[in-house]
Amino acid sequence: MQSDEVREKFLKFFERKGHKIMPSSSLVPESDPSVLFTTAGMQQFKAYYMRPEDAPAKNVVSVQKCVRTSDIDEVGDDTHLTFFEMLGNFSFGGYGRREAITYAYEFITKELELDISYVTVYKGEGIVPRDAESYNIWKELGMQDIREDGKDVFWGPTGDSGPCGPTTEIYCKNANGQDVEIWNIVFNEYFCDGSREKLDKGEANLKKLDVLGIDTGMGLERLVTIVQKKKSFYETDLFDSIVVKIKELSTTQDSKAERIVAEHIRSAVFLITDGVVPGNEGRGYILRRVLRRAVRFSDNLGIPKNNLSKLAEVVVSQYKSNYDITNNLVMSEINKEEEKFKETLEKGMKEFKKGIDPFTLATTYGFPIELTEELAKEEGRMIDRGDYEEKMKEHQKLSQTASVGMFKGGLANHEPNTIKLHTAHHLLLAALQEKFGKQVKQRGSNINEERLRMDFVFDRKITDEEKKEIENRVNEWISAGLPVIRHEMPLEEAEKLGAEMEFGAKYPPIVSVYKIMHASGPVSIEFCGGPHVTNTNEIGHFKIQKEEASSQGIRRIKAVLG
Ligand code: SER
Repeated sequence: MQSDEVREKFLKFFERKGHKIMPSSSLVPESDPSVLFTTAGMQQFKAYYMRPEDAPAKNVVSVQKCVRTSDIDEVGDDTHLTFFEMLGNFSFGGYGRREAITYAYEFITKELELDISYVTVYKGEGIVPRDAESYNIWKELGMQDIREDGKDVFWGPTGDSGPCGPTTEIYCKNANGQDVEIWNIVFNEYFCDGSREKLDKGEANLKKLDVLGIDTGMGLERLVTIVQKKKSFYETDLFDSIVVKIKELSTTQDSKAERIVAEHIRSAVFLITDGVVPGNEGRGYILRRVLRRAVRFSDNLGIPKNNLSKLAEVVVSQYKSNYDITNNLVMSEINKEEEKFKETLEKGMKEFKKGIDPFTLATTYGFPIELTEELAKEEGRMIDRGDYEEKMKEHQKLSQTASVGMFKGGLANHEPNTIKLHTAHHLLLAALQEKFGKQVKQRGSNINEERLRMDFVFDRKITDEEKKEIENRVNEWISAGLPVIRHEMPLEEAEKLGAEMEFGAKYPPIVSVYKIMHASGPVSIEFCGGPHVTNTNEIGHFKIQKEEASSQGIRRIKAVLG
């Protein structure tokens, strides 16, 4: 059975059981700023467990793109991936344990004709009782081996807070004869007011939810490996075409390097498609790390320069019938990063071999600490991470003072259109404050070549009429050709001027402030590191594309230039 058929079977099976098929959400979670990436199918539905009445349907099913990078160093073995697809069925008050378990049992044993080795159920701890109901349902289904377990079979929450609850997991044997967890069925019975880490430390509280929610997740790659009776993901049809291409381009053989390159290119394709751009922080940094590892291991394989995009093309054509993948952007980002890093790699490797310390390698040669660490590990050496962190902290303190406050979230890049949108962003905030008052505070921003996104404090929907007014105001300022001027000044002076600061941002003693000047006085004064256009008439026509809720009391505007 091919992977396409497994996906299809899953969706159709649950559709027959009264589920609405929902598309995968982006890898960049739209509604949960507390997590970096989408790591589970339930994330796009998270809010529905607390407010079932908001759900598009009581029961839904999806195949979700996911990225988890905590075990990136393990990629290349049989069991770790950074990118994977998750099959999941979800219910917000439509059904309970009996249906969830019976559906899973039927799908695994009848549709896929696999044997279940054993299942787990929650043994109970603290205020959460033993899951006797699930135990009994499995017994009725004839399950012989039911293992009761603790923390490992309690799932969630993701991010800062959210739904969570006991789970029951299904294990099947793989071709190596090992038992592998293939399906995790979560019973979301609680809301946790803190992260999982806090919950485990006893610093967060569980509150019983009004309605029992169902959240299940089954990794497609793992499942397909078992269905196709293969020893690893890389032997399944999901990896066929890319592995073939890698072998074709390589001059040496190294199956671990092949796997790493294949896995990382897949991740990179999907991350770039969802708007992540290689960078030095957050998501951008993770993508950069994934791509740079791909470059390094492709180098080990003797794959010549400018070929990673050819591998990406293979991934794009494989997945384009299932996902909306933007070819050109993916190729150009991968080429750019490969080009940049090949050079760094060459120079840095020379210095590394001379034994230069990790801090200098990072700051002078652009050699990321993780890379130095990996290389050292390959030689059986350890590096002093503590020493590195300390030097880095000092270094960052110094460069922050020198480089003045960039606002949080910020710019994806410094392309001309991003810079125009950045100035438009200042005008938008000014227009919102002019219309609704100074209490409209910015709570986050994200700008790339295509659009700007601003989150701000405001407690209701903005009407179409108001949107038009704001748009017109911004366009008036644009046509007026207002100069945009940068000043450096002590922090207190900027505060006295009433310069707009981002909530929660920390600023150095000397700050940079951008003023947009009108004959009648400044239109906008913001703490900002730039860059900006020098005159608003460079911006072009401003248009609000969307206005929506981002979270409680926070609205989000997306706007573009035409
Ligand atoms: N949220 C659970 C998981 O990620 C089930 O979907 O495993």
